[in-house]
Amino acid sequence: MKNQSKRKIAIITGGSSGLGYAIAEKFVANEIYTILIGRNEKNLKNASENLGALSSYIVFDVTSLQDIPQLVTKVITSYGCIDILVNNAGINLKKDFVDVTDDEFQHIILTNLTAVFSLSREVSKYMLSNQKGTIINISSMASQYGIPKVMAYTASKSGIEGMTRAMAVELSPFGIRINCIAPGFIATDMSAKALNNDPERKNKVLSRTPMGKLGAPADVGDLAYFLASDQAKFITGTVIPVDGGNSIGF
Ligand code: NAI
Repeated sequence: MKNQSKRKIAIITGGSSGLGYAIAEKFVANEIYTILIGRNEKNLKNASENLGALSSYIVFDVTSLQDIPQLVTKVITSYGCIDILVNNAGINLKKDFVDVTDDEFQHIILTNLTAVFSLSREVSKYMLSNQKGTIINISSMASQYGIPKVMAYTASKSGIEGMTRAMAVELSPFGIRINCIAPGFIATDMSAKALNNDPERKNKVLSRTPMGKLGAPADVGDLAYFLASDQAKFITGTVIPVDGGNSIGF
C-alpha cells in the first residue's frame, strides 16, 4: 500500500504482542497506518488481522543488523514514508549477576540496545531528508532504580535513556523529536514471566506502586500516541514514566 493520503505511517518493533500491540491499537484507532515488525509470522498475521485495514506486518528479526538498511528502504518504497518509529521490541533475562554469561549479556544488549541504535540511525537518515519525524523508545524501571537479577536488561534500558537524550540534541534541530517511555510494571507476557513465579518480587512491586496495581498495556499506548502526535510538538528528549507512581514509591 503506497501512502496516497496524508495519513501518518508508523513502524513498531515487537508490535504483535503486549505493549507494542497496545500502541498499534491506539495508532490505528487514530488513523495512523501501522506496520508491525517481528519475528513470528503467525503472531504478526493474527495481530495485523485484528487491527484491520490500517495495519500490515513485516517479518524481521531486529538482531539482523546488516539487513536493517534494506528493511527501512523496503518500508519507504512500499508505503511512501516513515513518520513514526517505535523501538519497542525487547527481551529480558532474570538471573543472578554472577551467573550471566558474556554471550547472554551480549544477546540482550544486541536485541534491546544495538538494534535500537541501528534502526534509529537508518530511519533518522530518512527523517532528516524529510525534515520531520518522531521516534519513541521504551526503557524500564530498571533504569530508574536498581532491580536485582536483571543486569543485562538494566544495562540495555539505561543505554536507551542516554541514547534518547543524545539523539534528541542531534536531531531535534532538524524537526525530529525523540522521546522515551519508561513503563512501570504492566500486565504482559514479559511481566508475567518475571513476576508470576516470584511472589516476593510481585509483592515488592505492588507495595512500592502508590496506585497498588499493574498497569494496562493501553496506558502505554495512550502516552505513545500523545508523544507521536502534534500535541507533543514541543516535547523532545524526555523520559516519561507510566508506572502508577512506582518510580517515586516508598
Ligand atoms: P512482550 O514479550 O509481549 O513483547 C516483546 C515483543 O518484542 C514480542 O513481540 C517479541 O517477539 C518482540 N521481539 C523480541 N525480540 C525480537 C527480535 N529480535 N526481533 C523482533 N522482535 C522481537 O513484552 P512487553 O512487556 O510487551 O515488552 C515490550 C517492551 O516494553 C520491551 O522493550 C520491554 O522491555 C518493555 N517493558 C515492559 C514492561 C512490562 O511491565 N511489561 C516494563 C518495562 C519495559
